[in-house]
Amino acid sequence: MTTPIDDPPGPTEAGEAADDLDLEIDLLLEAIVRKYSYEFRDYARASLRRRIRGALDAFGFASVSELQHHVLRDRQVFTTLLSRLTVTVSAMFRDPGYYLALRREVLPMLATWPSLKIWVAGCSTGEEVYSLTILLDEAGLLERTHIYATDINPEALRTAAAGVYPLARLAQFTRNYQQAGGTRSLADYYTAAYGNAAFDRRLRARVTFSDHSLATDQVFAEVQFVSCRNVLIYFNSRLQDRAIGLFHDSLVMHGFLALGSHERVEGSTRARGFRAVSRKDRIYQKVPYAD
Ligand SMILES: C[S@@+](CC[C@H](N)C(=O)[O-])C[C@H]1O[C@@H](n2cnc3c(N)ncnc32)[C@H](O)[C@@H]1O
Repeated sequence: MTTPIDDPPGPTEAGEAADDLDLEIDLLLEAIVRKYSYEFRDYARASLRRRIRGALDAFGFASVSELQHHVLRDRQVFTTLLSRLTVTVSAMFRDPGYYLALRREVLPMLATWPSLKIWVAGCSTGEEVYSLTILLDEAGLLERTHIYATDINPEALRTAAAGVYPLARLAQFTRNYQQAGGTRSLADYYTAAYGNAAFDRRLRARVTFSDHSLATDQVFAEVQFVSCRNVLIYFNSRLQDRAIGLFHDSLVMHGFLALGSHERVEGSTRARGFRAVSRKDRIYQKVPYAD
């Protein structure tokens, strides 16, 4: 299905040492799920190894077992580890060509529904969500849309809900916006003050941000569009399959699914329930199951 791209296999992981490390990681992940109900056991292993090694260095612990000891006794250690296990990199209008394809091929179809619900799964710090609200606004659809934006990282969700980003990032966001077919000036959508850009409350008003895990939670709404970009790359194929199943169940018939540029539904057990609208841009539409 989807190969994790950020994690080339480590050069020194062969043999017994890697087996012992994996055993300790298994025990740590089991401890985390039992104590805190966060499920990481079906995440791509190479990525987890790298992140856990990074955490050991940052905390100054000698082994995964020592990390586990502290995770179980100190919630703050777990919170810090959670931030390290979830990669929250994002940008407004990331992959501008994808947003251009949304404008041209998906929004005209979404416009045929009288009201719209959209689920942004793995929304991180919110850049993707504000990009979508701007796109919907420019298509005249925002006022009849509600967006559910979900993630497992509480700190990222707080940033997303605030909708405030350092002004230094706005040059890149503006370039992306223009390449994505933006029809106005991005500055029309935010107020700059004290080195930050605060996005309009009018955009935020259409969004509910909440905690939801693709690893453990169920479908919570029927929606016309699911966007889950750059999240499945961190999952193994079993968890990718679970997530795609949730998206399929959540979508109305003929609703749309968008994934990240290295992710796809082909190869999943639900693949026959989708057709590719734009294979290049990873945009799919739910269709009746082919025989
Ligand atoms: C790289 S960011 C993607 C942000 C945004 N979608 C984008 O493409 O710019 C990946 C996000 O997935 C979230 N995530 C990781 N595991 C998750 C899970 N089980 N359920 C929901 N979100 C998860 C992380 O917390 C992180 O915020």
